[in-house]
Amino acid sequence: MRISVTLLQYEHGILRQVLDVLAEVIKEDRAAAKRDDVKELLDFLYEFVDRFHHAKEEEFFFSVVLEQFPRFKEEVDGIYDDHVQARGMLEDAIKALDENDWTAMAESCRALVRHMTAHVELEEDYIFPPVDDSLPLEMDERINNGYQGFLRRFGDDYYQKAEVFSNEIQDRLLGPGFFTKGIY
Ligand SMILES: [Fe+2]
Ligand SMILES: [Fe+2]
Repeated sequence: MRISVTLLQYEHGILRQVLDVLAEVIKEDRAAAKRDDVKELLDFLYEFVDRFHHAKEEEFFFSVVLEQFPRFKEEVDGIYDDHVQARGMLEDAIKALDENDWTAMAESCRALVRHMTAHVELEEDYIFPPVDDSLPLEMDERINNGYQGFLRRFGDDYYQKAEVFSNEIQDRLLGPGFFTKGIY
């Protein structure tokens, strides 16, 4: 186990939860009625995915992966391109929402959900396992020190706030317990 990988997986859990909520919202066409909540969700994703998670991956994680596992050069280049594309999709969705263009917003959101799902899968299935297996421990520590300094820029309780927000926005947009409904 490498803490540098575990923390990114934890962040993927949060961003997946919020993307699942977004996917439901646009599917059910609830966006117009809950405009302010959708706006908050998109602003959260912009910060959490682009400013926080992707920036952190690039600055601390993938830079070291490239050093230690040069065979992943092509994949890492693709991952950086994916990050740029995700930012564009988020910006498009926010712009469309600001202009009350629901069709364009739903289209950008659908593209974003598809894109991020494939992106997270690529990282988790292809890059994380070998890193988790054989990244030297001192490199893991170096990355983790970088993460900690980076997290402080967002506030020491940033994870806690992000978790609270993702549960709250899910309840607000879909109703309490939405994803567990129908299991029992
Ligand atoms: Fe990424
Ligand atoms: Fe990621």
